[in-house]
Amino acid sequence: MEKKKTILVTGGSGYIGSHTIIELFTNGFDVVSIDNQSNSSLDAYKHVERISGKKVDHYSVDLCDIDATRKIFEKYSFGGIIHFAAYKAVGESVENPLKYYHNNISSLVTILSLSKEFSVSNLIFSSSCSVYGNVTTLPVDENTALPKAESPYAFTKQIGEVMLDDFCKINSDFNAIALRYFNPVGAHESGLNGESPINKPNNLVPIITGTAIGKIPQLTIHGGDYPTRDGTCVRDYIHVSDIADAHVLAMKFLIEKRNTQNYDVFNLGTGKGISVLEAISAFEKVSGQKLNYKIGPKRPGDVIAVYSDSKKAETLLGWKCKHDIESMMRTSWLWEQNMKGK
Ligand code: UD1
Repeated sequence: MEKKKTILVTGGSGYIGSHTIIELFTNGFDVVSIDNQSNSSLDAYKHVERISGKKVDHYSVDLCDIDATRKIFEKYSFGGIIHFAAYKAVGESVENPLKYYHNNISSLVTILSLSKEFSVSNLIFSSSCSVYGNVTTLPVDENTALPKAESPYAFTKQIGEVMLDDFCKINSDFNAIALRYFNPVGAHESGLNGESPINKPNNLVPIITGTAIGKIPQLTIHGGDYPTRDGTCVRDYIHVSDIADAHVLAMKFLIEKRNTQNYDVFNLGTGKGISVLEAISAFEKVSGQKLNYKIGPKRPGDVIAVYSDSKKAETLLGWKCKHDIESMMRTSWLWEQNMKGK
């Protein structure tokens, strides 16, 4: 039993990683985190500690360095791994594809190799709805055939899933789940943990709140003439704490051996498509503030519209989204205000 209790979280000081550690602690797991701090600060561990009252055992190591990572595996007996660590900026991946192929693929090779070497049998992998590309039938479910990826970032997620499938085929005692996140946003309900990338934010919600607080002069909407109800792209925004919950449920599902196949994929979305303009107006409603924005050119690699059918996660994992778009915007705004001047 003891063996099953320590979970390795890679990318644990990142946005989704740190929220998931809070949920793992709440559910009685011990956690070890590995993060190379390429896009997150050690402060995230302090936020986790403040919320959960528990210290995170953490290492600043690059997963592309298998020897350095092996030293950590030698010290612990992991009951499972949640692998978040990856680069995630769609636009940057179009400009610098090798950076994405190198980091996102090599780190997964390290994790799978060491899982085998150290007999760790449960893995949850961060995949993304970007694997679906420009889908024509919405909402999208897990049976949808995957088209050619729209960006190198998305392709690294498709490759990662194939790697897991191949690895599971030849290792019948190894179990893996890929969770395809739609658009994670929001912050911990306490306002004490949220998204705080070191690099310039690329994602919509930190740019909305950053504009509202005055860190960013103006938000540019990437394209206003898409074939959608108001001309802006449609996404399925989902609260980060709902995503974190799903990871704990998926890990328990594997640890308790409730899975009938050793590799599976699950969508994680609310099922509601929201346009960029609708997201902005939800923010304006909860903050009582008008946002300074303009419509600009399209962003390379963007898909037009995507939202999820998440029935599979609801049925098999017992997962349910608790937060709506206003709760996502309210907590993001609370977090942005709490960070002011820090
Ligand atoms: C993409 C992936 C998602 C992944 C995320 C990681 C798709 C469909 N989704 O999200 O799975 O988790 O990358 O970063 O590929 N926008 C603006 N102005 C801005 C910023 C964004 O208009 O300044 C728009 C974008 O054009 C898009 C929406 O807001 O329509 C959301 O963008 P973003 O938050 O960057 O996420 P995705 O690119 O959708």
